[in-house]
Order: sequence, then C-alpha cells, then structure tokens
Amino acid sequence: MNLYARKITALLPAVLGVALLCAAPARAQSATPENETIDVEQLFAGTCGFCHSDGGRAAGKGPQLMNSPRDDDFLRDRIAGGKQGAMPAFGGAFTGPQIDQMVKYIRALKPR
Ligand code: HEC
Repeated sequence: MNLYARKITALLPAVLGVALLCAAPARAQSATPENETIDVEQLFAGTCGFCHSDGGRAAGKGPQLMNSPRDDDFLRDRIAGGKQGAMPAFGGAFTGPQIDQMVKYIRALKPR
C-alpha cells in the first residue's frame, strides 16, 4: 500500500463518522412518515399535560389516566374523537398506530 492509500484508509472512519453525525439531525427534521414512532412521554407532556396532570398520573382539567378502569377501545376512541366541550379530538393530528402508542403509554403509567 502506498502512503496515499494508507492515508485514505486512516481517514475513512472519520469521514464516515462525520457523515453519520450529519445524517442524524437531518432525519429528525424530515416530515413525520405515517407510522413513525413518536416520543410519547414528551408528546403527552406537551399536548395532553395541560389537562392530564403529571403525565396522566393525576387529575387536572381532565381525569387521571393512570389505572383507568376504561378499556383500550374507549381510551382510543376518546383520544381520536375527543369529547365536545371537554377534550379536543386528536384523530386528525395522530395516526392510528400513534394513538395505540398513547394507549400503551397510559397503561404503563406508574406513580412517580
Ligand atoms: C383541553 C383539555 C384536554 C386535553 C388537551 C386533553 N384531554 Fe383528555 N380528557 C379531557 C377531559 C375533560 C376528559 C374527560 C372527558 C369526559 O368527560 O368523558 C378527558 C378524557 C380523556 C381520556 C379518557 C379517560 C377516561 O377515563 O374517561 C383519555 C384516554 C384522554 N383524555 C387522553 C388524552 C390524550 C392522550 C391527550 C393528548 C393527546 C388528551 N387527552 C388531551 C381533557 C383534555
């Protein structure tokens, strides 16, 4: 191997590393594809936390969601359809799989 080839070989991992670092933020900015998973905890805090306190662990303007006695279908329908005068509908903002993720998040809630 001549000196030039050796230099290239040594540089390659660094170049690849930089390329990967650049790709990560670019991916985060791209439009949300249909089934992309969402960071539910963060989303919940921002979108739902105004009414469902402490990440859904406590009642606020809306009821406590942790240990809900309702079944999954009810939770899903309420998130998608909302309730007139009480809770906005989120069926237009989130896809079915994303709403499923929220139901899973609610089911997994534990006291802090
Ligand atoms: C403007 C306030 C408000 C926001 C924002 C809000 N909710 Fe609600 N939510 C309510 C109220 C009020 C109820 C109770 C409705 C009723 O009387 O049945 C409720 C009920 C629910 C229920 C059914 C629980 C039960 O036992 O009846 C679920 C699940 C739920 N919300 C999830 C969410 C999620 C997930 C978000 C965010 C994507 C969200 N909510 C955002 C006010 C809100």
